[in-house]
Amino acid sequence: MSELARRAEKLDAEDALAPLRSRFVLDDVVYLDGNSLGALPAGVPDRIADVVRRQWGELRIRSWEESGWWTAPERIGDRIAPLVGAAPGQIVVGDSTSVNVFKALVAAVRMADLRGPGRDELLVDATTFPTDGYIAESAARLTGRTLRPVTPDEVPSALSDRTAAVLLNHVDYRTGRLHDLPALTAAVHSAGALAVWDLCHSAGALPVGLDEHGVDLAVGCTYKYLNGGPGSPAYLYVRRSLQGDFDSPLPGWNSHAEPFGMSPSYAPAPGAQRGRVGTPDILSMLALEAALDVWDGVRVEAVRAKSLALTDFFLECVGARTEPGRVEPVTPAAHAHRGSQIALRCPDAAEVMPALIARGVVGDFRHPDILRFGFTPLYVSFTDVERAARVLGEVLN
Ligand SMILES: Cc1ncc(COP(=O)(O)O)c(C=O)c1O
Repeated sequence: MSELARRAEKLDAEDALAPLRSRFVLDDVVYLDGNSLGALPAGVPDRIADVVRRQWGELRIRSWEESGWWTAPERIGDRIAPLVGAAPGQIVVGDSTSVNVFKALVAAVRMADLRGPGRDELLVDATTFPTDGYIAESAARLTGRTLRPVTPDEVPSALSDRTAAVLLNHVDYRTGRLHDLPALTAAVHSAGALAVWDLCHSAGALPVGLDEHGVDLAVGCTYKYLNGGPGSPAYLYVRRSLQGDFDSPLPGWNSHAEPFGMSPSYAPAPGAQRGRVGTPDILSMLALEAALDVWDGVRVEAVRAKSLALTDFFLECVGARTEPGRVEPVTPAAHAHRGSQIALRCPDAAEVMPALIARGVVGDFRHPDILRFGFTPLYVSFTDVERAARVLGEVLN
């Protein structure tokens, strides 16, 4: 056994989160793609079977009340809240991240308008996951704003009294770079604008501190580090003090103050419910609720500490197993700038990743030359990390 393999065993033996791995359905594959689709929590299949057979099959329509279907979006939002540093009553679950980006951005521009005229610009992270950019462009067009794509580093100098809102990613999906949410939010606020954050690649992997840092609005998906399952619903956070001003561009009947009043005129519900649109996707939503059980008693700070230890160890093992210069880490080495993934630039990444997958190490490829490895601290072990780097070395060399 190599020295690195011995170290991995020792680190696993000392890892307080290691027992959580048994709460997931896993096999001999080293699964480093939880930043794309989280693994299946072991409690989900039975819960879904109950939802389908009993709640739907036997109780049918009664389940909207008796099985708590109607209130699931807010109830599950409150389960996600502590993971992103939010007090209850500010997060609603539903729709996709893309749809929630739309709701959040248009609502942010409308809130900016309440602060006075002249805020005619919308800033968007130029390096963003494409959907955020597409939707920001449409939101800008619909609200008569000019869209300015800027890198997160350029945001402070791009801000002015013309800025209505800024859409940023907490962690860059491609490079794994962690952006400074507290400092950028403060900069946006000092320009009098609203900060909208996409938490897809940070929620469930590291502390976010939405309330602590005064974030205005935030969105995120639940199928990555929250393990909600393929296409599980996203969430929308609206800071409590802004909820009264949240004017949804998609005011469906589910967000009406009296949804069953069937009134022809719209009156928004108070609180997080105002972010809802139409009938929630109950099967996916309740799979997510069951998936969140694995978080009971888990501190996000402990998850972050393990995430950094895993990614540090991966970088060390890759350095030991590959020829110098064969791959180049693009994820920052500094902990303060690193999310929970490692992206390696590799000229033949498109061929390397399928070879890794064929050898039981699953990460993903991002165009044009990035090997992306996500580290979900709830179920990835140090032994996995050592094996992944060893197999990568074999494939590359
Ligand atoms: C940062 C980011 N934003 C948005 C999305 C898109 O989310 P959805 O397909 O749920 O709308 C993704 C998907 O991976 C993402 O990584």
